[in-house]
Amino acid sequence: MDYFKKTKIAQILKQPDKPADNVIVLGWIRTRRDSANLIFLEVNDGSCLANLQIVIENPDNFVDMQRVHLGTSVRLEGPLIAVPDRKHKIEMHPHSLTIVGDCPTEYPLQKKRHSFEFLREIAHLRPRTNTFGVINRFRSKIAFAIHKFFQERGFYYIHSPIITTTDAEGAGETFKVTAFDLKNLPFIKDEIDFKQDFFGSETFLAVTGQLEAELLATAIGDVYTFGPTFRAENSNTSRHLSEFWMIEPEMAFCDLFENMRLTGEFLKYLLNYAINECREEMEFFNKWINKDRIKILKSVIDSKFTYCQYTEAVEILSKAKKEFEFPVKWGMDLQSEHERYLCEEYFKGPVMVYNYPRHIKPFYMRLNDDEKTVAAVDVLVPQVGEIVGGSQREERLEQLEDQVKFHNIDKSNIDWYCDIRRYGTVPHSGFGLGFARTLMYMSGMTNIRDVIPFPRTPKSAKF
Ligand code: 4AD
Ligand code: MG
Repeated sequence: MDYFKKTKIAQILKQPDKPADNVIVLGWIRTRRDSANLIFLEVNDGSCLANLQIVIENPDNFVDMQRVHLGTSVRLEGPLIAVPDRKHKIEMHPHSLTIVGDCPTEYPLQKKRHSFEFLREIAHLRPRTNTFGVINRFRSKIAFAIHKFFQERGFYYIHSPIITTTDAEGAGETFKVTAFDLKNLPFIKDEIDFKQDFFGSETFLAVTGQLEAELLATAIGDVYTFGPTFRAENSNTSRHLSEFWMIEPEMAFCDLFENMRLTGEFLKYLLNYAINECREEMEFFNKWINKDRIKILKSVIDSKFTYCQYTEAVEILSKAKKEFEFPVKWGMDLQSEHERYLCEEYFKGPVMVYNYPRHIKPFYMRLNDDEKTVAAVDVLVPQVGEIVGGSQREERLEQLEDQVKFHNIDKSNIDWYCDIRRYGTVPHSGFGLGFARTLMYMSGMTNIRDVIPFPRTPKSAKF
C-alpha cells in the first residue's frame, strides 16, 4: 500500500492555485452527479469541512464506477487542475479510482440534514457528518489553545490520578472503583470491608484533579490539569455529562482576585483563538448553529468581565420582576434560572459571582473574614450557565480542620491534604473550566451531548 503518499484535502485546498501532476487522495464519497460523459464526485477525507471536487472524464474506463456512491471509501490518483473561475478553485481529474471499502445504499447518513437527536442514536457514525467533523476538529484546536495558553505562561501540565479515595467536591456523586466480585462481597456486620478490596480502601473515579493539583502547585508553582472527570450525578440535562473533561489550573502564591483575573484572561484568550485560528469552524457555527455567534464572542473579548458578590446577586434577584420557581433568599445555592437571569437579562453577558455562603461550597475553600462566606468564584455565561468554578483554597491548618468538621468529612481520608498546610503552607488558588460547556458557549450548540464525541450520560454509554 502507498497510502502514506496521500495528500490531505485540507492541504490541497489551502493552495488552490497550485496544480499538480499527480497526487493521491483517500476519502469518502459525499456526492455523485452523472452527466452525459462526465461524472462529478465530491470527496471528503475529514481533514477539513470542504470536499474536493473530482471530475471523472471517460467514465467507461473506470470499472468500479457503479459501486461509487455516498459513503464509499476510495483511493484516487491523478492530476490537480486549477479552475480559478469556479467556486471550488481546484479540482482533481483522476486517472485511477480504487474502491477501498463499499458502502451499502441503506447507509444511515443520507445527504439530507439529520436532527441532532437522530445523530445521537448513531453516535458511532455521526463523526462523518459536516457538523461533527467541525466539532471534533474544533475540540482539538481549542484543546491545543488551552495548552498553549498555560505553557506560554510558565504553567506545568500535570497528571492527576483518575482513581482516588476522596469525593473532593463533597457531593457524594462518585462512581465506585472496585475489584471485588460483586456477587460475593466481604462484609463485616452490615458494612462492606473495603480493606479487602484491591487498594485496601474504598476508591472512586475522580470528580476533580484539584486536590492533587494543589500538592503539585505547592511544589512546582503554577500547574494545570486537563483530563477526564466523572460524576454519577443523576442530572439528565443539556448541560451535564457523567464523564467530562476539565481544565484545572492551580497557582501557588495566588489569591482569589488574581485567580479571577487569570480566569478572565484565559477565557478571552480562548475566544480570540477560536475567532482567529478556527475561522472555518466559527463561520460554520455562525451560519448553521447560532447566527450571532462571532459577534457575541467579539463583544465579550472587547468588554470587561463583570464581578458581582453573591450577596449582591441575591439582592438583584430578589428585586427582579420575574417569577422564579425557586424563591431567592440569602444562603441558597443559585439555580440555573437565577444564573440565567443574572447573565442573560441583568448583566447581558458573562459574570463572575464570588464570595458564596460557606455551607453551599466544598470544604477546601478559604473562609472569609465574615466567617459566613468563602472565597469562591463561579463564572456564568448566557445560555450555558456555569462554565467555571474556582476558589482561593484554605491554606490555614486550623481553619481547614474547622471546615473539615463543618462539612462532616472523615479527617483520616484527607490527612495528606491537610499536611501541605503543616509544612510551609502558602496562599493558593485555582479554578476548573468545563471543556464541553466552554465549547457549547463558543459554538452556540445547545446540548452538551453534541460537543463531545461519545457522551456518557445517565442510562447511556453505548458508543
Ligand atoms: O464547579 P466544579 O464542580 O469545580 C470543581 O470541580 C473544582 N474542583 C474546580 C477547581 O477549583 N479546580 O466544576 C468545574 C466546572 C463547572 O464550572 C462546569 O463547567 C464543569 O466543571 N462541570 C461539568 N461539565 C459537564 N458536566 C458536568 N456534570 C459538570 N460538572 C461540572
Ligand atoms: Mg461548581
